[in-house]
Amino acid sequence: MRAAPAALALLAALVGAAGAGAAEMRAPPGASSCTGCHARGAAMGALAGRPEAEIVAALAAFRTGARPATLMNRIAKGFDAAESRAIAIWFASQGAR
Ligand code: HEC
Repeated sequence: MRAAPAALALLAALVGAAGAGAAEMRAPPGASSCTGCHARGAAMGALAGRPEAEIVAALAAFRTGARPATLMNRIAKGFDAAESRAIAIWFASQGAR
């Protein structure tokens, strides 16, 4: 877990940003935070180019607790269904570059 300290800082930022609204990002609120853990080549696996439905379903399952998680359950709770969908659309649109 070489990314652990940065990951925890990100998590804290995410939880705060979800309530406050991270307005200055061009991506939907929260989306650019995801890449701290889900960048291409990162241990967690990239989100860019993943199908929208897959990301939406995963976030929903994490949010409800249907899918066990160490971190994503807490992260997913910071986003409602509409926000999750916006994030999923964003990543799905980030195809192979
Ligand atoms: C602090 C690191 C971290 C951040 C930030 C993070 N994730 Fe994750 N993500 C994980 C971990 C760890 C897992 C594996 C499940 C678990 O244990 O929580 C995961 C799993 C996932 C999965 C399932 C992947 C798969 O292959 O099935 C999706 C989808 C996902 N995250 C989406 C997101 C989105 C969208 C964001 C931004 C809102 C995000 N993650 C932010 C760490 C992170």
